[in-house]
Amino acid sequence: MSNRAAVIGAGPSGFYATEQLLKAGFEVDLYEVLPTPFGLVRAGVAPDHPKIKSVTRVYEKTAKHPAFRYFGGVALGKDISREELLERYHAVVYAIGTATDNRLGIPGEDRPGSHSATEFVAWYNGHPDFADHEFDLSATRAVVVGNGNVAVDVARMLVLDPDEVAATDTADHAVDALASASVHDVIVLGRRGPVQAAFTTPELRELGELTRADIAIEPGAMELDEASAAFLESGECDATTKRNVEVMRDYAEREPSGRERRVELRFLWSPVEILGEGEDGPVTGVRVVKNRLEKGRAVPTGEEAVISCGLVLRSIGYRGTPLAGIPFDERRGLIRNEGGRVIGDDGAQQRGEYVVGWVKRGPSGVIGTNKKDAADTVAKILEDEQNGVLNEPVAVPEAPEGAITWEGWRAIDEHETAAGEAQGRPRVKLVRVEHMHDTARAAAAS
Ligand SMILES: Cc1cc2nc3c(=O)[nH]c(=O)nc-3n(C[C@H](O)[C@H](O)[C@H](O)COP(=O)(O)OP(=O)(O)OC[C@H]3O[C@@H](n4cnc5c(N)ncnc54)[C@H](O)[C@@H]3O)c2cc1C
Ligand SMILES: NC(=O)c1ccc[n+]([C@@H]2O[C@H](COP(=O)([O-])OP(=O)(O)OC[C@H]3O[C@@H](n4cnc5c(N)ncnc54)[C@H](OP(=O)(O)O)[C@@H]3O)[C@@H](O)[C@H]2O)c1
Repeated sequence: MSNRAAVIGAGPSGFYATEQLLKAGFEVDLYEVLPTPFGLVRAGVAPDHPKIKSVTRVYEKTAKHPAFRYFGGVALGKDISREELLERYHAVVYAIGTATDNRLGIPGEDRPGSHSATEFVAWYNGHPDFADHEFDLSATRAVVVGNGNVAVDVARMLVLDPDEVAATDTADHAVDALASASVHDVIVLGRRGPVQAAFTTPELRELGELTRADIAIEPGAMELDEASAAFLESGECDATTKRNVEVMRDYAEREPSGRERRVELRFLWSPVEILGEGEDGPVTGVRVVKNRLEKGRAVPTGEEAVISCGLVLRSIGYRGTPLAGIPFDERRGLIRNEGGRVIGDDGAQQRGEYVVGWVKRGPSGVIGTNKKDAADTVAKILEDEQNGVLNEPVAVPEAPEGAITWEGWRAIDEHETAAGEAQGRPRVKLVRVEHMHDTARAAAAS
C-alpha cells in the first residue's frame, strides 16, 4: 500500500509538490479552496502575459496521474480541518500561498480610493472573492507604492490600450472598467533608489514599449548616491541591477513622444499619509517624504511634498494568514518551518506536516522558484518516510461531498475557453463560485 499525501493549495508550489510526491510513489489528494486550480497563475499573473500562464500545461500533465485526485472548492480551516487531514494522510503539505497584503501603517490607508495591489490584481483577474469589489478609476492620476514586479503589473494594466485588454482573459467586469478609466498619469513610488528597485529587466523594459503611455524618470533621479554608485560598479552587483540601471538611464533621457498616457518612476520617496476629504472621505493625494540612503536603508530627510491623485495602489508585498492549529510566524507572515518541516511552538517538528511555496519562504520568486522549493520539502518527506517518522493515519480519505473533481475543472476550463474562442480571447473567466459549480455539475450530468 502506498503512503498518502494531502497537498493543500493548487498553485505552482502545490502542483510541483504533487508531481514530486507522485513520482516518489505517494497517492496524492490536492485540496483547493476555489473550484479552479493554479493559484496566482490564474489569479495573479497579468492577463497580458498569456505565455507565462501556459505553465499550467505541466500541471495538467501531473493531474493525469492515476494516483492523483483533485478536490476543488474545499477550504482548509472551513470545510476540512488540520486534524481531519492528519487522521487520513501520512503527510500533509501546506501550499496555501500568501493571500493578503502588507500594510503601510500610515494614516488614511483605508480611505476609499486606496487599495492594495493584492485586491486590484485579484479583481482584474476574476478571483471570485474580489469580483464584487469596486474600483473608482475616474481619477486622472494614480500613485502606485512599491518597486517590485507587481507594481509594474498594476501600473501597466492601468494604461494598456482597451483593445489590448479586451484581447486577454481579464475578467469582463474589469475589461469594461479599465476601458473607461480616466487614469492618464501613473506615478510609481520607490522608497529607495533605482539600484535598489526589485523589478526584473524584461518587466521594466515592457514599460518603455507601451503603445499608449510614455515612460518618464526625472534625469536627476538617476544621480546615484556614492554607495549605490560604488555598488553598481563593484563585482557584488548582479547583472539584473546593472541592466535595470541602463534601462532606467535610457528612460531618464527620453523626450515624451506624445502618447496620451504616462508612467513615471519616482525614487526615494515614502508615503507618510494618504490625504482625502474629511476623516474618511475619498483619496485626494499622498503626502510623501524624501528619503536618503544610509547603508542601503531609506531614511527620511524631513523634506515633504504632496502628490495629488485620486487612486492609490499599495504594492509592497504579500503576506500569509494564520490557520487554526498551524504554527505561524507572525513577524514574517509564514507557517513556521525549518526547510519545509512545520515546527511547533516548542521548536519540535510537527509530525506529518510540511510546507512549500510562498507560505514557506515568503512572497518572493517567480513560478519556477517553487519547483526547487517543493523538491527541497519533498526530500524531507522522503527522509522522514525512510526513517519511519511520517504521520500514522487512522482513516482512509473519501472525496469530500460536493468537491469539484479534475473532470469538473476540465468542464469549467472548456466552458471558459469556448466562450473565449468566440471573442478571440484565451478564455472568458467565470467569476462566481456558483456558476463554476453549475458548469461542473452540468458536465457531470451529461
Ligand atoms: C500579481 C502577481 C503576478 C505574478 N506574476 C508572475 C509572472 O508573471 N511570472 C512568474 O514567474 N511569477 C509571477 N508571480 C509569482 C508567482 O505567482 C508565485 O511565485 C507563485 O504563484 C507562488 O506559488 P504558491 O503555490 O506558493 O502560491 P499561490 O499561487 O498563491 O497558490 C496558493 C493556492 O492555495 C489556495 N489556498 C489558499 N488558502 C487555502 C485554504 N485555506 N484551503 C485550500 N486552498 C487554499 C489558493 O486559492 C491558491 O490556489 C506573480 C505573483 C503575483 C502576486
Ligand atoms: N513578471 C514577473 O515575473 C512577475 C510579476 C509579478 C510578480 N513577480 C514576482 O512576485 C514576487 C512578489 O512581487 P512584489 O512586487 O509583490 O514584491 P517585491 O518584489 O518584494 O517588491 C516589494 C516592493 O515593495 C517595497 N516596499 C515594502 N515595504 C514598503 C513600505 N513600507 N513603503 C514603501 N515601499 C515598500 C519594497 O521596497 P524595499 O526593497 O525598499 O523593501 C519593494 O520595492 C517577486 O519575486 C516578483 O518578482 C514576478
